Amino acid sequence: MTQVDVIVIGAGAAGLMCAAQAGYRGRNVTVLDMGKKPGRKILISGGGRCNFTNENASPDNYLCGNPHFVKSCLSRYTQHDFIELVDRHGLAYHHKTLGQLFCDNSAQDIVDILLTECEWAGVNIALRNEVLSVTKTDAGYEVITEQDSYQCESLVVASGGLTMPKLGASPVGYKIAEQFGLTVLPTMAALVPFTLHQHDKDRFDGLSGISIPCLVTSEDGTQFKENILFTHRGLSGPAILQISSFWRAGQTVYINLLPELDLKQQLEQWRQSQGQKSLKNTLATILPKRFVEMLHDTKAIPDCNVNQLSHAQIDALHDYIHNWQIKPNGTEGYRTAEVTLGGVDTDELSSKTFEAKKSPGLYFIGEVTDVTGWLGGYNFQYAWSCGFAAGQYC
Ligand code: FDA
Repeated sequence: MTQVDVIVIGAGAAGLMCAAQAGYRGRNVTVLDMGKKPGRKILISGGGRCNFTNENASPDNYLCGNPHFVKSCLSRYTQHDFIELVDRHGLAYHHKTLGQLFCDNSAQDIVDILLTECEWAGVNIALRNEVLSVTKTDAGYEVITEQDSYQCESLVVASGGLTMPKLGASPVGYKIAEQFGLTVLPTMAALVPFTLHQHDKDRFDGLSGISIPCLVTSEDGTQFKENILFTHRGLSGPAILQISSFWRAGQTVYINLLPELDLKQQLEQWRQSQGQKSLKNTLATILPKRFVEMLHDTKAIPDCNVNQLSHAQIDALHDYIHNWQIKPNGTEGYRTAEVTLGGVDTDELSSKTFEAKKSPGLYFIGEVTDVTGWLGGYNFQYAWSCGFAAGQYC
């Protein structure tokens, strides 16, 4: 039996940040992970370049049963604090769109920074070490792994969500929470592509690879203005991934295909200037040609010249293009999702320390908690912020 002050389950973004912070406080910390490498999700994130934070991160960018829960940790360790950390380590990075920051070289640079911090803080990382069970003892917690058993005062659960089972996702964190009487809210794949019903699959066959800048709206009125992407499996692209977190089975997604333009006005203008041209060819100057051909072939738009359109047809076309409606069949699920919605109910945790109110010395941080960020570096920022917070107390 190995005796330590703090055990952290999970060498991911939240666990490594927390471990380094606790180590700097002089705590004897061991991180346990069943993988053969630390930070495996960081390594594949952002297409291998890790979108490690967002300059605009604020509590409004998170879904959580209690919208106030993230305020404390995000304000105590902000995106600017993390940027200051990576600057200190000399990380080369760049700004993409919408405040997103990416590594210039590789996501490995972020893992290296976290590992360096852990090393400086004297943290021990034990890999290939799956946690099998946890029990409460008089002195704290006993953790049994496939290799060893540990006794600790503080146990930090940073075991992540259910996405990407190939990368070691496991429900262990939810099981530990339930074992200690904490509520775990239902989980669901989020930031995930949509799959389509057969009739849409047939309609969209051949559109794979087409990307359109759109304004996408969910039934609850949440909106994202980014690209949608047709794939051979269904619909993806940043706007779709974003809205998937707000979509529920059976609901419709509303897509404004020309958010920067008033189609009615445009059609009136074309009637004057190029009325003899076919509607199909004219529309193909403002929307991808293959997409317009699909609308034409499926008779979603009239087969006529622009000046043959009646006022009623113009109104209908305007509504159709600005409010294109898709009812997804489902999502691609945990296999390709970036995050897991739901998880350990934040009402069970202190928003200051992340300690379980019912079980002193037990902490839950990162994706295992019921906090889900938007696409764009917000999920890592939450991992850094909550890891930092718990690291001050565990
Ligand atoms: P994380 O899942 O990172 O770590 C949990 C660790 O616990 C794992 O290493 C696992 O092996 C370990 N573990 C689980 N069960 C165990 C057990 N029983 N015993 C021992 N160890 C166990 N976010 C973002 O902000 N920007 C981005 O660019 C991306 N990109 C991205 C791409 C893809 C493909 C995915 C899947 C996800 C993203 N994300 C993202 C989301 C981001 O990766 C995610 O929010 C964080 O990795 C969550 O960090 P955690 O530390 O909470 O869990």
